[in-house]
Amino acid sequence: MTFKVLAISGSLRQQSTNTMALRAAQDLAPGGMEIEIADIAALPMYDDDLNAAGEPPSVAQLKAKIRAADAVLISTPEYNFSIPGPLKNALDWVSRPPEPPFDGKPVAIMGVSPGPLGTARVQYHLRQVLVYMNTFTVNKPEVFIGQSASKFDANGRLTDALTGQFITDLLVSLRRLAERVAPRTQ
Ligand SMILES: Cc1cc2nc3c(=O)[nH]c(=O)nc-3n(C[C@H](O)[C@H](O)[C@H](O)COP(=O)(O)O)c2cc1C
Repeated sequence: MTFKVLAISGSLRQQSTNTMALRAAQDLAPGGMEIEIADIAALPMYDDDLNAAGEPPSVAQLKAKIRAADAVLISTPEYNFSIPGPLKNALDWVSRPPEPPFDGKPVAIMGVSPGPLGTARVQYHLRQVLVYMNTFTVNKPEVFIGQSASKFDANGRLTDALTGQFITDLLVSLRRLAERVAPRTQ
């Protein structure tokens, strides 16, 4: 049975290095694992009135994709030492009833930055948010991909073998965690 992972990038731009890292994860996925990259660009800004009037279709679609996935992989940049607005917006939307799909969901996080710290600060903010959302988040390995200019080529392909190994280890840890928290019966 295929282990399905839904991936979310915290950056919306076309040349996003975080989206590049998710594409690398697709290539590196161990046997039996499939990674789909979600699109969060179409989500409206969170507005409780909008939610009360009926869940927007883009939100319902994202919630359904998260619900259908065995696990979620998030790769995010760091904006002003914290979570980029589009990613926080997406998390806020899907955290609301009915049936918030992150409840009990195994999640792995990583991030890419041009600087040396590789999103270390935002990852701890993101972990805090995920605590409230009641996910099971992979603790190790922590995947901080710094100095991004030297890790991807002009076509957006990951060229750094050590980073590739970290991403592979993260995916293996994600599946192992998912098996521990939600053992498969078939
Ligand atoms: C509003 C804004 C705030 C930023 N703040 C930080 C920061 O606090 N720390 C950091 O390492 N990089 C910061 N950056 C630079 C991002 O790390 C950089 O734009 C990164 O490449 C974005 O990831 P992406 O390639 O996936 O779009 C910031 C960028 C923006 C647009």
